[in-house]
Amino acid sequence: MKGIILAGGAGTRLYPITKIYSKQLTAIYDKPLIYYPLSTLMLGGIKDVLIISNDETIPLYQKLFNDGSQIGMNISYAVQAAPNGIAESFIIGEEFIGDDSVTLVLGDNIFYGKYDFFYRALQSHKKGGVIFAYQVTDPERYGIVQFDKEGKAISIEEKPKEPKSNFAVPGLYIYDNEVIEISKNLNPSGRGELEITDVNKTYLQRGDLMVEKIGRGVAWLDTGTPEALLQASNFFGVIEDRQGLKVACVEEIAYQKKFIDRTQFESLLDTIPKSQYKDYLINLLKE
Ligand code: G1P
Repeated sequence: MKGIILAGGAGTRLYPITKIYSKQLTAIYDKPLIYYPLSTLMLGGIKDVLIISNDETIPLYQKLFNDGSQIGMNISYAVQAAPNGIAESFIIGEEFIGDDSVTLVLGDNIFYGKYDFFYRALQSHKKGGVIFAYQVTDPERYGIVQFDKEGKAISIEEKPKEPKSNFAVPGLYIYDNEVIEISKNLNPSGRGELEITDVNKTYLQRGDLMVEKIGRGVAWLDTGTPEALLQASNFFGVIEDRQGLKVACVEEIAYQKKFIDRTQFESLLDTIPKSQYKDYLINLLKE
């Protein structure tokens, strides 16, 4: 399984924060936003990750993560020249994906809580696509999935004016290798983008799409507006402060999931400046 993080987009709703650098680099409490989706892939055991962004921002991600080897990963980078849509990720990433399946996470999507929904989906996935459904109060802002009485997904619409349900499709998608061909055959939507919703509709029409509801106990947080950024920061500030455990600490996850051993973890520590973040990591060695 390969992983892609799409960290593009102009982030205009966050102007002027996003005038200088990309939204996925803004801080959510104590770390850049992109740490959260990266940690989602890591928790899924995915070590080969492609980060897609615009050419201006790629060097900044490279500065953050290098080639990923310090956390036992293999991180590469690719440019999306223009905001041509989420599904373009699979065309840009064609060579990277090779003959494998791929999990795509959007660089501004945060998942917190019990990851069983994701583990189960990854384990059972063999063919087709798996997407998730999460209940929200503002369905007109998302891809929306409608279920029939038996709980079977029957339609998916992108940002419908009159949503048929409150179940939004979060930015976390698992696909087989077919996704490359499907994406290449899409036509741009009204907003000029290759829509991920059209990929999902294709799989749905083929009878090859699993839609898993994410229930209570999982937070899927949005970071698209200043209010949402503050809420997310507060949310993780409260949790980290209360438990003394960090969320989305990629170095910790790499160590706990044995992407790196103790010696590698110690050399990683040597590269981190004196900080509260480093103190936290040092403490992990004492456990
Ligand atoms: C995109 C997708 C949408 C999905 C959302 C999740 O929306 O098009 O289907 O529900 O991400 O964050 P956009 O980022 O274009 O608003």
